[in-house]
Amino acid sequence: MRVFTKAYANPRARQRAQEHHRWIAHATPGIRIPAIVDARPTEIDFEYLQGRHGGPGDLLHLADLLGRQHAAAYAGALHAARMNEPHTTAGVSIAAFAQDRRERLHELLAANAIPQPLLTAEAVDAWIEEAADLPAAFYKDANPRNFLIVGTAITVVDFDSLTLAPFGYDLAKLIVTTAMTTGPLDEDIVQQALDTYNSHLNARNLSRCSARQFAAWTEFHHILTTPYMDTNGYCFGWHTVRPPWIIKQLLHHGGRSPHHGEPRRDEQPQRGLRDRARPRA
Ligand SMILES: Nc1ncnc2c1ncn2[C@@H]1O[C@H](COP(=O)(O)OP(=O)(O)O)[C@@H](O)[C@H]1O
Ligand SMILES: [Mg+2]
Repeated sequence: MRVFTKAYANPRARQRAQEHHRWIAHATPGIRIPAIVDARPTEIDFEYLQGRHGGPGDLLHLADLLGRQHAAAYAGALHAARMNEPHTTAGVSIAAFAQDRRERLHELLAANAIPQPLLTAEAVDAWIEEAADLPAAFYKDANPRNFLIVGTAITVVDFDSLTLAPFGYDLAKLIVTTAMTTGPLDEDIVQQALDTYNSHLNARNLSRCSARQFAAWTEFHHILTTPYMDTNGYCFGWHTVRPPWIIKQLLHHGGRSPHHGEPRRDEQPQRGLRDRARPRA
């Protein structure tokens, strides 16, 4: 049997990938993933799959897959999860949303490493706080290279990363990284992708990922993916291709969520905007 052998930096990383693969198979059984044929301390042999990577023309199909996958994972495994606590199902522990991510976001913003971010460090914290009370789906790094497509059949690959995340977060990764790869996306397609994704949440009576939440998550990915610019096929900075409606969501609401209520007395409205409240050096 032809295999795709993936090498890992150390046995722990290999073990984590294998556990993530097991969890995805358990929590989202309708999704096609490659079988694991063999594993050694720092390598896994996956079943070899034909297919091309995702692209702008696949966004609706991929959004449909992600919505179906996340809604199923929530119903079956994640409904009891708390976003900022590691969650164990099927013997596999999935990292909390804030774990490592918050620190990395802060570090990149503080280093002024991100071109034109629309969230300050304070707004990042407000969104992480907001996410703490949202239902948990997961992040598995939905970049377009982690899907292999043949006709209408889509297989999901790459089990290195798996964390809890709000609904819409991994869809935002797909949108940001697709635009970073191929350039500006048709605005209608991005909105339709979010609607398609949300239709799976509606079907299970889960609250949808709002446009404002989605906009915030795209901004998280702008910050976290910028260090990979000029690798992995990323040649367009998200700040150069952000759809105007996403910018509008962040500018009008200061990077805060719709559920966050009125600003506290010690806060200025729109403090999340970079031009209003730059993080101190
Ligand atoms: N099982 C597989 N069969 C065939 N090709 C694969 C398989 N898994 C991954 N690939 C290809 O190899 C690329 C890199 O693999 P991936 O697991 O995504 O590693 P990376 O950590 O480098 O992103 C994928 O984008 C895909 O093109
Ligand atoms: Mg990959």
